[in-house]
Amino acid sequence: MCGIVGYIGDKEALPILIDGLKKLEYRGYDSAGIAIIGKDLTVVKTQGRISDLEKKLSTEEIQGTIGIGHTRWATHGIPNDINAHPHFSESKNIVVVHNGIIENYIEIKKMLIKEGKVFRSETDTEVIPYLIEEFYEGDLLKAVNKATDLLEGSYAIAVMSKNERDRFIVVRKDSPLVLGVGDHENFVASDIPALLQYTKDIIILENGDIADIHKDSYTIYDRDLKPIRRNIQRIDWKIEDAQKGGFKHFMLKEIFEEPNVIKEAMRGRIKGDSIEIPELKLTKEELSSINQVYFVACGTAYHAGLVGRYLVEKYLKIPSTAEVASEFRYRDPVIDKHTLLFVVSQSGETADTLAALRLGKAKGAKTIGIVNVVGSSVSREVDNVIYIHAGPEIAVASTKAYVAQVEVIALIVLYMAKILGCLETEEEKHLAKEFNALYDRANNIIQRCGEIADFVSTTKNIEETFYIGRNLDFALSLEGALKLKEISYIHAEGYPAGELKHGPLALITPNSLVIAINTYKPLREKTLSNIKEVKARGGKVLAIAEEGNSNIEEVADRVFYVPKTRDDLAPIVNIIPLQLIAYYMAETRGLDIDKPRNLAKSVTVE
Ligand code: F6R
Repeated sequence: MCGIVGYIGDKEALPILIDGLKKLEYRGYDSAGIAIIGKDLTVVKTQGRISDLEKKLSTEEIQGTIGIGHTRWATHGIPNDINAHPHFSESKNIVVVHNGIIENYIEIKKMLIKEGKVFRSETDTEVIPYLIEEFYEGDLLKAVNKATDLLEGSYAIAVMSKNERDRFIVVRKDSPLVLGVGDHENFVASDIPALLQYTKDIIILENGDIADIHKDSYTIYDRDLKPIRRNIQRIDWKIEDAQKGGFKHFMLKEIFEEPNVIKEAMRGRIKGDSIEIPELKLTKEELSSINQVYFVACGTAYHAGLVGRYLVEKYLKIPSTAEVASEFRYRDPVIDKHTLLFVVSQSGETADTLAALRLGKAKGAKTIGIVNVVGSSVSREVDNVIYIHAGPEIAVASTKAYVAQVEVIALIVLYMAKILGCLETEEEKHLAKEFNALYDRANNIIQRCGEIADFVSTTKNIEETFYIGRNLDFALSLEGALKLKEISYIHAEGYPAGELKHGPLALITPNSLVIAINTYKPLREKTLSNIKEVKARGGKVLAIAEEGNSNIEEVADRVFYVPKTRDDLAPIVNIIPLQLIAYYMAETRGLDIDKPRNLAKSVTVE
């Protein structure tokens, strides 16, 4: 995720671009930049926040009434001044800002290097202005259209040329872009909040749209450059609400983003029927020499590692364990060069996780980072980083990062199984199909969030909560309980369902709520028996069960049905109802959901 703004009109572009970028800072904040055409085409960019860009700009006088700007969330190339957008073409006549990922940029870059082109950055984006320049014959619209024909992946881009000072061109495919229609001025942005101060007349561009924006007009074309009509919508949001896209909290917004997060995490990794991890550096020989696999992490990331542990045992047949990093770092784990250590971290800066990584490396383990923040400490220190591409997570409680962590771990484990010859082609095909189906299944759950809110409204007297499940459902129960305690402050514990009668059952009273996760097919009947044990002690039970498993209704007080999903991938979508339960529990209590008491987003101290 990154943020794009563009302006053309009679006013000075700079303050409008800076103001728009500030409204979009939630979409990315590791670097920022602007390009303005005045006397010349000027680009100013820097690593850091918009405030850092403002500082840099304070020593320059940049005038011009057409410009584009960008706030970056790095995906390719660490956050630094060079990788910041906008990016120039080779001659510096054309300039581009981009949100998304160009999957085939390496191929394009190699082709252009062969022709003698010299690149300046490590980004995937830079191939775009270079390609546009290749096709430029005096009409920017035609050149952009030809260049984008060659791009695979997702993109929203804005392009200006110093040879055509009265227009800029924008294109969208799988990354959002909106047009703001003004009086003798027009705007573009990645999201509506950036524009609301200037106009409430918004056009939401659709996939494949390419728009030619002038001061007094705009034309939207399809990819054959035939003009098309898009309706103007009048948006009446308040500016404060708009950054959250109309959601009351970032946490809810981030949960609603999960279907897209699922799609992004598999981009370039599910190709037709095939599972690929192009970034994985381990060779077949190195993989064959691995005799144990650790997942080390904290909190939610540790719970994602727990899922990974089950998958490694099942598919790689290698002993595996998930460990809380703050414990692992002070033990003397038996680790050597035959150990593979997965280090899972959204921020990539968690102090205990970093210490665990360093310990593992010192003992000779091979290390793979599953990280969201590009260029973070974990990403720099591991032997091999594989990004989850979840975009910035603003709410303290981690939601969409967990979904992407579990998905990327599953993809890596399955790809390793393929390399090691432990995954039949037919099974891989089935798995690829299941990955592709996750988007719709996640959407299905999210669309039914009202069912969860309704259930939560019946739980006013609840004093404590137990989450139970077996196997992968147990891993989910720990994460469900963590989410609830951190934002609703209700006491919650996750237990293996079979462990209940070894102690926790003594705590069950009519004021206890038990969330029974019963989706893991091989152990369905066993968990059902545990639910009966709870009911016999008067506890209230909400079951999370798969569609079709309706006999559970005879036992549980309420059932939330999740779509049928292959067990190995089910945690990726089945966590969503648990995140929603936590959210609505906190919401009905009127709590500060995005900033829960005593907690911080990135725990960089021990
Ligand atoms: C829970 C939560 C924390 C983090 C943990 C690790 O919602 O956000 O438990 O998961 O602090 O953080 P990262 O993944 O940044 O290492």
